[in-house]
Amino acid sequence: PSLKDVFAGDFKLGTALLVNEISNPNGPDAQLLKKHFNSLTAGNELKWDATEPRNGEFNFTRADQIFQFTMNNGIAFRGHTLIWHSQTPDWVFHDANGGLVSKEVLFERMKKHIDTVVGRYKGKIYAWDVVNEVIEPADGKPGGLRSSLWYQIAGEEFIEKAFVYAHEADPAAKLFINDYNTDQPWKRQFLHDLIKRLQNKGVPVDGIGHQMHIGIQSPSVLDIDTTINAFKDLGIEQQITELDMSVYTNDTDKYDAFPLDLQKKQAARYREIFNVFRKHKDEITAVIFWGKDDQNTWLRTFPIVRNNWPLLFDERLQAKYAYWALVPRTTAV
Ligand code: G3I
Repeated sequence: PSLKDVFAGDFKLGTALLVNEISNPNGPDAQLLKKHFNSLTAGNELKWDATEPRNGEFNFTRADQIFQFTMNNGIAFRGHTLIWHSQTPDWVFHDANGGLVSKEVLFERMKKHIDTVVGRYKGKIYAWDVVNEVIEPADGKPGGLRSSLWYQIAGEEFIEKAFVYAHEADPAAKLFINDYNTDQPWKRQFLHDLIKRLQNKGVPVDGIGHQMHIGIQSPSVLDIDTTINAFKDLGIEQQITELDMSVYTNDTDKYDAFPLDLQKKQAARYREIFNVFRKHKDEITAVIFWGKDDQNTWLRTFPIVRNNWPLLFDERLQAKYAYWALVPRTTAV
């Protein structure tokens, strides 16, 4: 069965991809993408370092390849990401002498970038991660806004401006604030209050993206449920934007092969989590995996190089237990 059909009444079902997965638009990778997913996110191709590596020099070669693929196949295209502390070229923040630019110059560069990138796909990209990971990691302890160069130069205003510029460039696109570990209580609260502040100022925020890079043990299903509930009162869309499930519980273990007990555990956990998503189908408008198969996953290089099996299809694009756990009326698990 096709995953997107299984969840058709609930939410969009998507994945991130890299452009090399569709270099042959009829190859096995592309076939799998077309069969199962109705929303695609470019894994790297729309980030600032890809689209505007040098000031005013835009490059959409790779992004356009993915865009064309979505158009040709009637798949919704999701934009990731406009403003991030990572994968942003140094020139954005610096003047010719290597010093930091003023807030005015930074906003000018930001506006030009957003106008050009969002404008190019106006009416075609249905949702944008306008700002990504603007909250500082704090290992469970209360943190705050990330002390990125965006923040150092412009304070919280950089977030407001990014949404305003994106809305001007494409009034139809849904604009998201995207972050990870949104289940951590302090972060959840901080993010909630940040969005509330933005709303009170009339900043056009349409949704929150929960990346949801989770593990085989945590967060608990209850944590996830509590997290979705915590944002309900804001009246905005919620999307799961980068779902995957590492099979490890620490940063050092390495398995040669995927242990059978963990395969089953992963499947059962995916099932429970999707039951929570389904319960919240009025708030959740898309659930998107960060990759379709275990070969094409960032978790094989981060935090260390090792095998990992976080997704629904294996290295040979075969459906795993985790896939069968999401498909109704089977006894495979
Ligand atoms: O394309 C080059 C290749 O030519 C070269 O041989 C190879 C050697 O390092 O690097 C390749 O580029 C890598 C690229 O992924 C494509 O695989 C970059 O080094 C690597 O830095 C880049 O990593 C991406 C990462 O963001 C960068 O921070 C991952 O693919 C991408 O999945 C990951 O995605 C992020 C989201 O944007 C935000 N949330 C977290 C998520 C996971 O880290």
